[in-house]
Amino acid sequence: MTSSFDSNNFIDKWCRQLNTKIDGRVIVAVSGGIDSTVCALLIKKTKILHNLLLIDTGFLRKGEVEKVQDNFKRVKCSIDVIDAGDTFYDNVQGRSEFSEKREAFRKTYFSILTEYIKGKKAKYLLQGTQFHLSNAKMYHNNPYPKKTRQFKMLEPLAGLTKVQIRAIARKLGIPSEIIKRQPFPGPGLLLRFSGAYSHHKLSVIRDITYLTEQFIEHHPYVFRDCYQVFPFLAGLEIPFVNLLSAGDHGPIVLMRIIKYKAGRKGIMYMPKILSETIQRKLVDELMQTNSIARVCFDATPKYGQGGKSSPGGTIEYA
Ligand code: XMP
Repeated sequence: MTSSFDSNNFIDKWCRQLNTKIDGRVIVAVSGGIDSTVCALLIKKTKILHNLLLIDTGFLRKGEVEKVQDNFKRVKCSIDVIDAGDTFYDNVQGRSEFSEKREAFRKTYFSILTEYIKGKKAKYLLQGTQFHLSNAKMYHNNPYPKKTRQFKMLEPLAGLTKVQIRAIARKLGIPSEIIKRQPFPGPGLLLRFSGAYSHHKLSVIRDITYLTEQFIEHHPYVFRDCYQVFPFLAGLEIPFVNLLSAGDHGPIVLMRIIKYKAGRKGIMYMPKILSETIQRKLVDELMQTNSIARVCFDATPKYGQGGKSSPGGTIEYA
């Protein structure tokens, strides 16, 4: 699919089309990931008036707002940031089902975006959506029906693969650290703990996500072929051995390791890449700093032995 894909052609065609068709200001919703960064640089190549917006949902990773601001500075774009953590916390409060959490997040996300779009008198929202899935999941940026929204959608990357998007990113001169960043879902850490939101759960998952990502950075060869590696905080509190303080209890952490593998079977899990030593190092780090009772490595592949026709586990737990 990639061999016949010409990223230069894609960029030229899209910019030309936009220059002729768009008759108003465009807002680009950015997250710092490759998809929205590509969108930001595509629009920068046109003559169209636009603004880039990052919504700080409160469910971002440690230091993420600063990192995204830095990354955009590197590609010479300025971004507006709306600090909306408290609004998101209020709106997801008390919701324990994943579908409820997702819907509350999506509603809040679009209501903040809509206000911003109105404030800027913009007509279009540009987002880096790759596909509108899916089985049972409502993605945070899945737009409401046309009739109920006050802006038009532009989604230039819809239907493209990550490989194609990476090719476009390279052509646009996006630095390789941004291109190589693992995908991170829009609802962020909200999808990475079970049950209702609490400040404590969020703080634990933020810490262990940070530790996991630091670990990956220090062991780049081990994780080189991984598409996504992240921990999930399961609700159950169980006892664990801690010689320093008897009778400790803590949560279970599930570690999801997903390898990118082109072909019929698509994206696979692969904990077998982790040698026993590496596994133990990671488990030690997580347990020592956060009173985690167990670290379990998830053995469920995205697709089973029969490829897409056999059952498998989605990447996220939510
Ligand atoms: P699943 O869990 O559906 O995930 O196998 C496929 C990919 O999509 C990411 N993901 C999301 N990305 N908003 C996003 O921007 C969402 O609501 C969302 N849900 C899942 C997931 O991390 C994986 O890369």
